[in-house]
Amino acid sequence: MIRTAAMAILLATSFIANASEEAKAKADPAKGKVIAESICVACHGADGNSATPANPILAGQGADYIYKQLKNFKSIDGKPAVRNNPIMAGMAAPLSDEDMKNVAAWFSSQKIKAAPAKDESKIALGQALWRRGDFKKGVPACAGCHGPAGAGLPAQYPRLAGQYPEYTEAQLKAFRAEERANDPEKMMRTIAAKLSDAEIKAVAEFAAGLH
Ligand code: HEC
Ligand code: HEC
Repeated sequence: MIRTAAMAILLATSFIANASEEAKAKADPAKGKVIAESICVACHGADGNSATPANPILAGQGADYIYKQLKNFKSIDGKPAVRNNPIMAGMAAPLSDEDMKNVAAWFSSQKIKAAPAKDESKIALGQALWRRGDFKKGVPACAGCHGPAGAGLPAQYPRLAGQYPEYTEAQLKAFRAEERANDPEKMMRTIAAKLSDAEIKAVAEFAAGLH
């Protein structure tokens, strides 16, 4: 019985792995580079190392995550976009499904130029939340989903390591206010609801320093 279940899981995982290999094989980062250099460059940099904290770093981010976000910024069938951002709505609108896969593959293949965390005084609190969470408040460790080093886990969990702390902070506050509501099963809204401003700032600084 147990052996059969284990086999089923093994088969299922290798099927998922194959399916995502196929999806990746289809994406063409060279075509994505052309889009990045002509459109995205203005805000995210051609290699995804954005120069401004309001614009997230895309270099090294998971391709599946980037693709999902681009789809989430689009309004589909006249319904409001599930990730509401007027700037990115305008950017995503003209992109075809193939364009989104290609540009996601391009940014994902680029190297992040990680900047060190700025505010050392907040590292201890941020590190505790990252590694252990807060049992009393029911906050799980960020590392459980985003990885111990913040590299993320393809395909669902984004990379947070080296991201601008201002951006991470803004997203956590958006999840907390339910202004950003595109997280599957309310994973991030549930967690962010339990975090104070000070905790959000601390964990954002800590994640920025991970690499
Ligand atoms: C005029 C500036 C601007 C341009 C040009 C632009 N973006 Fe953005 N992008 C932003 C901003 C601002 C955000 C943050 C949105 C938010 O706060 O939710 C963002 C967010 C994103 C995100 C979400 C990242 C994450 O970590 O969740 C992706 C993916 C993205 N942009 C891809 C692109 C791509 C691909 C292009 C080119 C086709 C592009 N952007 C062009 C400003 C821009
Ligand atoms: C149960 C799994 C899980 C845990 C634990 C978790 N996250 Fe997340 N997180 C997610 C998922 C899934 C997403 C992507 C949502 C989407 O598809 O837009 C996400 C997205 C994010 C984003 C948005 C990133 C971006 O590029 O826009 C931030 C910031 C974030 N998480 C911070 C944290 C922090 C800080 C913690 C710890 C306090 C944490 N997360 C714990 C699952 C988790």
